[in-house]
Amino acid sequence: MNWWKNSVIYQIYPRSFQDSNNDGIGDIPGIISHLDYLEKLGVDVIWLGPVYQSPGDDNGYDISDYQAINPEFGTMEDLDNLINEAKKRNIGIVMDLVVNHTSDEHEWFLEAKKGKDNPYRDYYIWRDPVDGGVPNDMKSTFSGPAWEFDEASGQYYLHLYSKKQPDLNWENEEMRNKIYEMMTFWLEKGIAGFRMDVIDHIGKVPDEKIITNGPKLHDYIQEMNHRSFGNYDVMTVGETWSATPADAPLYSDPQRKELSMVFQFEHIGLDEQPGKSKWDLKPLNIIDLKKTLTKWQTEIGENSWNSLFWNNHDTPRIVSRWGNDNEYRVESAKLFAILLHLMKGTPYIYQGEEIGMTNRELSDISQARDIETINMYHDRLGSGYDEAAIFESLNAKSRDNARTPMQWKDTKNAGFTTNEPWIPANPNHETVNVANALEDPNSVFFTYQKLIQLRKQNPLIVHGNYTLLLPDHETIFAYEREYEGEKWVVVANLSDFEARLDLKTTPTETIISNYNKTYDHLAGIKLEPYEAFAVKVLS
Ligand code: NOJ
Repeated sequence: MNWWKNSVIYQIYPRSFQDSNNDGIGDIPGIISHLDYLEKLGVDVIWLGPVYQSPGDDNGYDISDYQAINPEFGTMEDLDNLINEAKKRNIGIVMDLVVNHTSDEHEWFLEAKKGKDNPYRDYYIWRDPVDGGVPNDMKSTFSGPAWEFDEASGQYYLHLYSKKQPDLNWENEEMRNKIYEMMTFWLEKGIAGFRMDVIDHIGKVPDEKIITNGPKLHDYIQEMNHRSFGNYDVMTVGETWSATPADAPLYSDPQRKELSMVFQFEHIGLDEQPGKSKWDLKPLNIIDLKKTLTKWQTEIGENSWNSLFWNNHDTPRIVSRWGNDNEYRVESAKLFAILLHLMKGTPYIYQGEEIGMTNRELSDISQARDIETINMYHDRLGSGYDEAAIFESLNAKSRDNARTPMQWKDTKNAGFTTNEPWIPANPNHETVNVANALEDPNSVFFTYQKLIQLRKQNPLIVHGNYTLLLPDHETIFAYEREYEGEKWVVVANLSDFEARLDLKTTPTETIISNYNKTYDHLAGIKLEPYEAFAVKVLS
């Protein structure tokens, strides 16, 4: 019960992890070949990005058969092997559950398109034109309207993502039943749970333009729990972009029988201009970061659980984003690890983060692979944006940044494939790679390994109270954790410059330090750029 509160999750983006059959695309046998590596790192769970049958319009988030494996990734037997091999190493597999939408090539949609009387028609969301055009002005996340016209029936269907990702109609009970049966199929295979893609959308009310937190959202999640995973000892994490701290207990209070935890993005939007899109950049203010992360530490209540993460397959690499991926790559990568992993919540590591992988620069749109990136480029170019400004936004925020191949070695294509990779490897794989990291006891990898071990050994990390220190300091993020009379202080200088720390508490033991220092006082000491540490203090 609640084992996932003590766990660390490792996210694998299957397309980019390891190719085993030399087609340039990562696959399930490739993942199996690195399970020993993940065991060494110490993670408990793999969140496996979607590996189901899919035409690949949104790299697998457009599913055409929920109970079949995309041959690019392998076979069902490979997946069963992955579950078993991972289990031998005490690692569980969490499947990505994408049930806000399917592919337009899913048989339900192919049927639905046959006409208004088709029994599957109501599995999706169809509306008549209004004044000869779209039913309303809802927009797709991937640019353009969220409505696509279907010539044959003269109606529009809703797609909050690409037009090849029609939204399912959760009002339809028969459709919901089929989803629960499908989930049970996976649960019976012995998976460790589900990561639920944009789950806060399923209660949408398109006619009122309500996309998230619709009135029936929690009824659906409770029904899903009751009808599928509720009787299994699994973890469930809801991708909930819209969640506020007040929403967190609605999803994750165990008494409500919904999910294990939320995965929310409030801190991720802090370098965007308010009210604009993710492409409209503004510098990060560290005080805002402290406020937001602290809010999620202190305001969600005792009966609620949150995820901790800096990046995933939809966001840029954290060292490039808020650290320094040049001179202080190693220091800043370790800083982010220390700062996050000693907070309350379940930490997620996105593949490559544990070796300090960085963003990859795009200089021509032909290098892009991601549908959101490509659509944004054309959309903004068409609306008169300057090309250089478009690339500035893309290089900061494009999803391709984090999707380049995992860097295993210094050899061609980073040891990811011997063929042409589906997306080019970052040239810095010559130095930033797993082989180098494992040889260097001071590498980012060993900081992650140590933090994972610390979590296992210290209930304070999982259960302790959190208090922010120095709230107004412009670069130092410091906090205290306290549990059963024990106290730790965590300090991180989020800056290219030195800073002066002045805390009165007295350290009794240094737990971790990215500059390999030990600390016997914290009053009036100089911090190096990106210096981060944790100490036990007198309480
Ligand atoms: C969130 C996923 O993480 C993202 O990659 C995907 O494009 C959208 N949901 C749509 O499924």
